[in-house]
Amino acid sequence: MKRRLPRPNEVLPLIGAPDLRTSPLQRRLSRCATVMDVRAVARRRVPRAVFDYVDGAAMSGTSLRRSRDAFRRVEFTPRVLRDVSTVDTRVEVLGATNALPFLLAPTGFTRMMNAAGEPAVARVAAERGIAYGLSTLGTTSIEDLAAAVPECRRWFQLYVSRDREIAADLMHRAQAAGCDTLILTVDTAVGGIRPREVRHGLTIPPRLHLGTLADMATHPSWWFDALTTEPLAFANLTSTSGPVGDLLTRMFDPTVTLADIPWIREHWQGSLVVKGIQSVADAELATEAGVDGIVLSNHGGRQLDMGAAPLELLPDVAARVGERVEVYVDGGVMSGADVVAAVALGARGVLIGRAYLYGLMAGGESGVARVVDILEKEVRVTMQLLGAPTISDVRQAQVRLRPV
Ligand SMILES: Cc1cc2nc3c(=O)[nH]c(=O)nc-3n(C[C@H](O)[C@H](O)[C@H](O)COP(=O)(O)O)c2cc1C
Repeated sequence: MKRRLPRPNEVLPLIGAPDLRTSPLQRRLSRCATVMDVRAVARRRVPRAVFDYVDGAAMSGTSLRRSRDAFRRVEFTPRVLRDVSTVDTRVEVLGATNALPFLLAPTGFTRMMNAAGEPAVARVAAERGIAYGLSTLGTTSIEDLAAAVPECRRWFQLYVSRDREIAADLMHRAQAAGCDTLILTVDTAVGGIRPREVRHGLTIPPRLHLGTLADMATHPSWWFDALTTEPLAFANLTSTSGPVGDLLTRMFDPTVTLADIPWIREHWQGSLVVKGIQSVADAELATEAGVDGIVLSNHGGRQLDMGAAPLELLPDVAARVGERVEVYVDGGVMSGADVVAAVALGARGVLIGRAYLYGLMAGGESGVARVVDILEKEVRVTMQLLGAPTISDVRQAQVRLRPV
C-alpha cells in the first residue's frame, strides 16, 4: 500500500462544523434516531417528578412491561420483489382520513411536561394530518385548544364523573368546539396506584419546597417556563387542586356501566369510542351496545397491574368484532415497526401516548414533531421492507406472534 501525507484541502471538508443556524436543542433532537433516544433527552430536561409521572406505571410495572414486550414477539414474513417505490400510509379513521396509521392519545397534565402543552401537540397533529385526543384532565380548555389550533382534528376524552352534570356539560362543550369523536375511557373505575408518583407526592399545582430550589438549578428552562406562563391547572374543570390520587378518585365514577351508553348518546352526536377494553368478552358487549370503535388498552399499564398486553388480545378481538366496529390498540408502542405490526394483526390504527410526551418533555413542539418524524419514517420503511406499500397490503401481510 502506498502512503502519503494527509492533505488539508481533502481533510477539512470532512470535519463537520455544527450548523449554527439551528439551536442546540434542534441539533440534539435531530441526532435522536429512536423514540428511546428522545426519552433520554427528556429525562435530562424536566424535573424527576415530571419524568416519572410520564414514564411510570402501576405497581410492579408488569402491565407496561408486558405491553412493550409483546411487540418483541412479532414476526413478519416479508414479501420481496414487489414495487414499493411509493408508499401510502393513509387510513380511514371514523369517517375521515388519517395521514398515518397512528393518532395521538389523550393524556392529562400535558402542560406539566412542557408549558407549550396541548396546543403544541395539536399543531404537530394538524401539520401531519392525524387526530389528537384532548383529555378531560387536560391543562388547556376545550375552547382554548379549538381557538389555538382549529385545523386539528380534535377528539375529546371523557371521564364520567360522579356528578353527571359535569360530564354532560363537557360533552356539550366538546361538541360545540368541533370535536368529532368522544373517547370514553373505561379502565379507570378508580385511580391506579403508581409508586413513582406516590414517592414524589405529586400535586397540582406543583408544591415548591427546599428540594425544588436544587431542582431549579438543574432544570432552569422547565422552571422558567413553568413560573412565567399560566399556572398549571385542569383547565376543563374547576376547583381541582390537591394530591393527584385524590383528584382522580373524585373524578372517576365507579358505578359507570354499559347501561350509561344511551345516556351518553343523548348528549353526544359524534362518533363514540370506548377506550380501555381488555377482554374479548367486553369487546363483544361494547360492540353490542352500539359504539363506533373500541381501543384495546390498559391505559399504558398505569391502571391495573399484571394485566394482559393489548397487542396479544388484538388478533382474537379483531376476529370477533372487527367487522362491526373499528378496533384500535395502544400500550407500549415505541416505534413505527410496532405501529405496522399492530395494523397487520388487525388494528385499524394505533394510539401513541408516552412516545409523544417524551418529545414534548425533550423539546416542546419540536420534540413532538421529531417523534412523529421518527415514527413516520419507521412506518414507511417497515411497509417497504415488508412488501406492503399500502395499509390494505399491511392488513394482508403475513405476521404472527411467536409463542412465548
Ligand atoms: C402521562 C399520561 C397521562 C395519561 N392521561 C390519560 C387521560 O387523561 N385519559 C386517558 O384516557 N388516558 C390517559 N393516558 C393513557 C393514554 O391515553 C394511552 O392509553 C397510553 O399512554 C398508551 O400507552 P403508551 O404510553 O405506552 O403509548 C395517559 C397516559 C400517560 C402516559
